[in-house]
Amino acid sequence: MIMDPEQIVEQIRELKKERNAVIVAHTYQRAEVQEIADKTGDSYALSRFVSQAKEDVIVFCGVHFMAESAKILSPSKTVLLPAVNAGCPMANMVTGEDVRMMKEKYPGAAVACYINSTAEVKAESDVCVTSSNAVKVISSMEEKDIIFVPDRNLGMYIAQQIPEKNILLWDGYCIVHEALKEEDVVKWKELKPDALLLAHPECNQGVLVHADFIGSTKAIIDYVIKEKSKKEFIIATEKGVAHPIKKARPDADLYFPSPCLLCVNMKKTDLIDVYNALNDMQHEILLSEEIIKKARRCLDRMLELS
Ligand code: 13P
Ligand code: SF4
Repeated sequence: MIMDPEQIVEQIRELKKERNAVIVAHTYQRAEVQEIADKTGDSYALSRFVSQAKEDVIVFCGVHFMAESAKILSPSKTVLLPAVNAGCPMANMVTGEDVRMMKEKYPGAAVACYINSTAEVKAESDVCVTSSNAVKVISSMEEKDIIFVPDRNLGMYIAQQIPEKNILLWDGYCIVHEALKEEDVVKWKELKPDALLLAHPECNQGVLVHADFIGSTKAIIDYVIKEKSKKEFIIATEKGVAHPIKKARPDADLYFPSPCLLCVNMKKTDLIDVYNALNDMQHEILLSEEIIKKARRCLDRMLELS
């Protein structure tokens, strides 16, 4: 059966009721996917939301580690990832074995993992963080030495914000944010001297030193919405954030300083995938009870501390 976009949306709404499902979408998702979602947000907002979800089924429009985290936080629910091959390259840059090796090398250090990591890595970690709560969560930890995996850029940003901690970095990075270069933002700052530069902490130091504001996707969106006295913004994160910003502030001019700011994995999910996920109850996230139990500790600790 060939359906037009309105019919697909209607079918998704019906199936959602039938399955007692909730749809969540990261703000890097396609605009039409964000529109069909019951909740949109950054990694932290979505984690908190799914941890309290009442529905039987959670359809997670995002990448694999996000749906996996939802399963860990809500193990009794059926969690579906509509685009089965939507992964996050950064999450695969460190393994559980790597973390065990770091713990042996630095006995006494606590392990903080970015939520962009596998369940196996979370199972080895003391606490999990997202870009919106990392500084708060890590500041409140007792240990001075903190092994931080996998994002070296976020890790370096945390180290600068909390100089009293000794942050031991892993060498992972986001292929999307890392591709943005200092010269790109310098060029755009020259082209648009009145614009503020808002950057995600997954960007490298060459970009972050020029930023007027550094924050998670949600923090960047909220910043533009609140900063009504400014009209022009250079946005150093993935282009999906333009959708919620333009809905709230159609008058704002947004400049994305490089064509690289597009995450192909986040864009893999389309409306047909969401429809198929609900219609065929596919692609379910399955994890062993043991890994859920071990990985849950660091996510619960994050929710307690943030
Ligand atoms: P936040 O959702 O924490 O802003 O992180 C962005 C990201 O890269 C998700 O993969
Ligand atoms: Fe992973 Fe970067 Fe894409 Fe986020 S934007 S999902 S960190 S590759």
